[in-house]
Amino acid sequence: MHDFRYLGRKLYCEDVAVDALARRFGTPLYIYSQHTLTDHFQKLDRAMSPVDHLVCYSVKSNSNLSILRTLANLGSGFDIVSGGELQRVLAAGGDPRRCIFAGVGKTESEIEFALRRNVYSFNAESEAELQRINRVAARLKQIAPVAVRVNPNVAAQTHAKITTGTYENKFGIAFEQIEGVYARAARLKHLRLRGLQMHIGSQLTSVAPFEQAVRKVLPLVRQLAKTHELEFLSIGGGLGIVYQPALASGRPEWWKTAAATNILTPAGYAARLLPLLQPLGLKILLEPGRFISGNAGILVTRVEYVKRTGPKTFVIVDAAMNDLIRPAFYDAYHEIVPVMRRRGGHIKSDVVGPICESGDYFCKDRPLPRVGEGDYLALLSAGAYGFVMASNYNTRPLAAELLVSGRRVAVARERQPAEEIWSGEKVVAWLR
Ligand code: LLP
Repeated sequence: MHDFRYLGRKLYCEDVAVDALARRFGTPLYIYSQHTLTDHFQKLDRAMSPVDHLVCYSVKSNSNLSILRTLANLGSGFDIVSGGELQRVLAAGGDPRRCIFAGVGKTESEIEFALRRNVYSFNAESEAELQRINRVAARLKQIAPVAVRVNPNVAAQTHAKITTGTYENKFGIAFEQIEGVYARAARLKHLRLRGLQMHIGSQLTSVAPFEQAVRKVLPLVRQLAKTHELEFLSIGGGLGIVYQPALASGRPEWWKTAAATNILTPAGYAARLLPLLQPLGLKILLEPGRFISGNAGILVTRVEYVKRTGPKTFVIVDAAMNDLIRPAFYDAYHEIVPVMRRRGGHIKSDVVGPICESGDYFCKDRPLPRVGEGDYLALLSAGAYGFVMASNYNTRPLAAELLVSGRRVAVARERQPAEEIWSGEKVVAWLR
């Protein structure tokens, strides 16, 4: 459940009317519900309570400091993938000792920074990285806690661009090689083999691939835990969310699988996985991003023009692919609703932004309520991989972000002033 709903004709975020926020703070505007974030974190945390566990919120899905602080206050750990994300967690008041550091390309300076801050574990993705971590730890006279990311080679049944657990992907080390890797890593004096990690993909809408992956790695984990005294198993993130309340025809391919399955709930996820995980006696780490932040955010945009040309109706809005790239990049579906409902029927529309790219659209030929200049629309489920993937393409300033809690509203990120976009640039000396 999330906290965006209609009261009468108006869309609300918790106890605040969205149209008033759009007028006061301008558009494009991201709005996040603190209650939804909290609720989603707690649902998963509670479902996993029969085992010793730590939910490590995946910072990449939405890294706004207020979001991170909301989760830190709930006792969340963090899944990070860069030195920058660790700095964000620190800036937000999160605990570095609850951070796990993933990623195939950690630099020496990132490793040194994370070691100095005592992260819980590095999730290493290659033997070269293990050697590098060992070298940096030796220089700092430290013992680095590490886990190796196993690539279990199972199909996640999701979009190809967000599948990570097959041998086609750059992630982790092949299942068959893992024992050898641990044996060699055990000889590196400045490493402590603390766990094993996996993550098979994102936006998984059924438990089956998770279960398949867990079943596949169980014997391996048992073996490694015995030989190397492992403390944890991370089963990664990837829990999918509902983007589409009603099934529409003509949806992109990857949603067909999603539609065929019952949507994944924390209770259903835990019910299938706990019986497998509990007997291990290890601490279980989870790395959910989208499940926590996805439905906790919307992107509000203003209609600038309605253009009818040939057979098409284009609703031209002030948000664009630079603000929310998911439809352009993954053909992703985001529900689009009016911030103020009106009578007047539906019309098949393309909602498009002002950027000079044909890919700059939020939907195509979708029956939407008739709108006109000055109306506001909300793109739902935009809390994960929304603002964080934004760019300045076409010299468009980054949108503002708000956090709502009950009746309270605060700016979680100011709208970027246009001049800031080129503030690091120079007209080089010989051109002057
Ligand atoms: N752990 C690891 C190692 C990951 O690589 C990811 C996401 C997560 C956890 C969190 O996954 P989640 O629970 O959010 O599915 N930009 C894409 C999604 C990319 C996911 C990258 N890795 C999108 O907009 O759908």
